[in-house]
Amino acid sequence: MKRAVFYLMLVYCFSCQEKKSMTEEELYRPDIHFTPPKAWMNDPNGMLYHKGVYHLFYQHNPDSSVWGPMHWGHATSTDLIEWQHEPIALFPDSLGTIFSGSAVIDSNNTAGFAKPGETALVAIFTHHNTQGEKAGRSDFQTQSLAYSIDDGKTWIKYDQNPVIKNPGIKDFRDPKVIWYAPKQKWIMSLAAQNKILFYSSKDLKNWIAESSFGEDVGAHGGVWECPDLFPMQYEGKTIWALIVNLNPGAPNKGSGTQYFLGEFDGKSFKSFTDQTLWLDYGPDNYAGVTWSNTGDQKILIGWMSNWMYANQVPTQSWRSAMTIPRELKLMKLGETWRLASLPVSSLQALGKEAFHKVKVDAIEKIRLSGSSVISFQADATKNFTVTCLNDQQEKVVIGYDPIKQEFYIDRRSSGQTAFHPEFAAIHTAPRLSNNPLIQVKLVLDKTSVELFADDGLSVMTSIFFPKKGYQECWVDPQNGQIMGLLLEQIGK
Ligand code: FRU
Repeated sequence: MKRAVFYLMLVYCFSCQEKKSMTEEELYRPDIHFTPPKAWMNDPNGMLYHKGVYHLFYQHNPDSSVWGPMHWGHATSTDLIEWQHEPIALFPDSLGTIFSGSAVIDSNNTAGFAKPGETALVAIFTHHNTQGEKAGRSDFQTQSLAYSIDDGKTWIKYDQNPVIKNPGIKDFRDPKVIWYAPKQKWIMSLAAQNKILFYSSKDLKNWIAESSFGEDVGAHGGVWECPDLFPMQYEGKTIWALIVNLNPGAPNKGSGTQYFLGEFDGKSFKSFTDQTLWLDYGPDNYAGVTWSNTGDQKILIGWMSNWMYANQVPTQSWRSAMTIPRELKLMKLGETWRLASLPVSSLQALGKEAFHKVKVDAIEKIRLSGSSVISFQADATKNFTVTCLNDQQEKVVIGYDPIKQEFYIDRRSSGQTAFHPEFAAIHTAPRLSNNPLIQVKLVLDKTSVELFADDGLSVMTSIFFPKKGYQECWVDPQNGQIMGLLLEQIGK
């Protein structure tokens, strides 16, 4: 009898757990944002476009839903929206766990990893030696290589790792490598505590320290991480962008992404301005860098979370998603250069029109069914709000304040917020354009909203966890007018 009761309880326990995880899946697993199959994920790593396939690697702890020994998880896609999970690419080894980094195609076989007829893909990453860190040493992060000669399916670690030893800097990581054609050499940007170090190499194995940037410019509320240096074209001119992630010290607290625009001569980077510029003002876009091998098109993806609460967000079977991949574009406002970002066009291509109204003068309630893109134009002299909500009084409010000339996302009543004291907040972003009409695009998924205003000049990314999915969005022109309101459902 006792045994029967015990078995009954066991079966009950399993079924309730099953139910709980089903609910979590249904409620919180995004539709159009990349998530790991299970367990913990943070930064995107080693993004590379090769033979028509976008590769995404990511910081991954496959054995737990909190941060821990880092591996590189792997996924592939042909459109940057629909992803296929691949086996884990890099596992920890005797030199340490595998922190963030990048990957390149070594078309000229500069490193000599390929045999005739083969092409090597080379990953450049940080080895993080946990024992060294625990022993109080400062040289526990070094830079290493791995290569693949089967188009990224399997990876072999270079047998003479590390290729850059640590000069005694505690935070010394996240190598991002590009090919600098004018001098036929590789350039690495490396984050070193409060600055970016640039190195060069002819063969990816031997690196020369070239210069350092940033100690006296930009935001310095925390540690500099995950840099990315790349050229961009604007009306026949080359402008260099340098992305620098920062944690903490972002405009809305915690983790954030700043950028610099300027010149790079193969040795050092010079910023046009001392002003601090942010790629995304929302709290949930971090560690973003761009794909390699996409030519003049620059595509960035970020980790859609914030170190303040990433380990506590209310999912158990997996933790975190990536942002929608975004195409970066240079813009000139008067004499000032800016980096704008918009969702990649393949997202738009998946959209099916579900609602359209030319002029909206009063609150318009639009029903949601699955992930969607909402776009419209609004008069810049008037307020507007978009409130996405369920029937449990949970809501996220996206709006514009013409007096402050600020966009905002208010997630104070968005659902579960108690897991961290900083989560329930209103976040703001300045408006940078002075166009009399504001172009608004919102990308909505089960647990996130991404606001792209003024062609991607002001961007905000915010996550939320309602206890029941949002069913409607109320578009409110307040005392103004909204034009061209469009809801597109994104069917995958
Ligand atoms: C950024 C970061 C990187 C590091 C990785 C470790 O989020 O701290 O600097 O390589 O995460 O997982």
